[in-house]
Amino acid sequence: MKVPFFRLDAGGNELRYLREVLESGWLTSGGKVLDFEADFGDRVGATHAIAVNSCTAALHLACEAAGVGPGSEVLVPTLTFTATAEVVEYLGGRVRLADVDPTTGLLTPEIVAEALDAHPSISCVMPVHFAGRACRMRGTTERPGIVDLCTERHVTIVEDAAHAFPSRHSNGSPVGAAIGSAACCFSFYANKTISTGEGGMVTTDDDDLADRIRRMRLHGIDRSAWDRHTNVNARWEYDVVAAGYKYNLTDLAAAIGLAQLERAEEFRAARARLVGRYRERLAGIEGVRLPAIPDDPDGHAWHLFAIHLDPAAGLDRDAFIDGLREHQIGTSVHYKPLHRMTHWSRTARADGGAVAPDAFPGGEAWFRGCVSLPLFPSMTDGEFEAVCTAIHAVLGRIRQPVVRA
Ligand SMILES: Cc1ncc(COP(=O)(O)O)c(C=O)c1O
Repeated sequence: MKVPFFRLDAGGNELRYLREVLESGWLTSGGKVLDFEADFGDRVGATHAIAVNSCTAALHLACEAAGVGPGSEVLVPTLTFTATAEVVEYLGGRVRLADVDPTTGLLTPEIVAEALDAHPSISCVMPVHFAGRACRMRGTTERPGIVDLCTERHVTIVEDAAHAFPSRHSNGSPVGAAIGSAACCFSFYANKTISTGEGGMVTTDDDDLADRIRRMRLHGIDRSAWDRHTNVNARWEYDVVAAGYKYNLTDLAAAIGLAQLERAEEFRAARARLVGRYRERLAGIEGVRLPAIPDDPDGHAWHLFAIHLDPAAGLDRDAFIDGLREHQIGTSVHYKPLHRMTHWSRTARADGGAVAPDAFPGGEAWFRGCVSLPLFPSMTDGEFEAVCTAIHAVLGRIRQPVVRA
């Protein structure tokens, strides 16, 4: 049986809302975007939710509004997608790569503290809530979190929550709510926890930051087209107050987003159930490590279910992926860390030389063995069993599938 790495579930109100948009005749940013923003903001408890056409755009706008610019030095974990780092360079800033915890893949307060002590020039930190698990943002006096450390040193935080909707911080507040960062950025890319094909959102409680992001997302114009044409006081006139970008989300995408949002918790619960079943079926295989479970398991969005192979598994990660491909099972690798990428390995060192992989032992340990397994809400029992049977077969330990009552 063929099992894809991801399959979108668009079986809710997606078509209905899309039809409403098409029949309204207003396809670009308008009423549906406003509804999507209001609904998303309510769900994460943020004062402002600003829809854009990707998380990359969200990160770019958030960093720009938070003051990242020429000369800024920004701390980015090596285990992330290139978008987190590239926006710093768009703005003329410099990326300083940080290592991650080898068991969670997360940037930790300890790593942040060490980096801020060693490099007082760092003015911004970008924690990535990798796989859907929130970084430790708040802590205690004895064990401070990333926010505590950064606040003390007047360092700005822009959160990359591309994987983390819906997720919760350890203090119970939703990722995206005010936690002490300048802004939090989400992705609705094709295979994310909710999808609009391409799309993103910035949340913030800072009114000035929100104003700047809203303007810069649409050319630096002081009033949106929707505002100019539909407002009761509609006027044609507008002003350009900065050289902005074209990052607005369309009403077509927002229509899909609204329908996906209605089912976000149902999707999360379905992924969490699959995680529980994977943990049962893959328990005790020599050389296979399963993902760590946080104290608040329901606070994990489970965007990814990444297992790790160590040498005791008897074959390396790439051979395992090839074996699963022969069984028609889709997998992925999250991620080849940035310090292994040509561009980032060069920029990581002031002298432009390639960085040594052993400079990032946590990221290396994660990368060596990680494999992300299929995890999507519409996965059938048959597909789930096919993945597990293939894993056991590839590892040479074929067991009978558990028969469920
Ligand atoms: C951690 C992380 N940050 C940012 C992005 C960029 O998201 P988008 O594709 O919506 O621009 C991604 C996309 O995969 C991601 O995984």
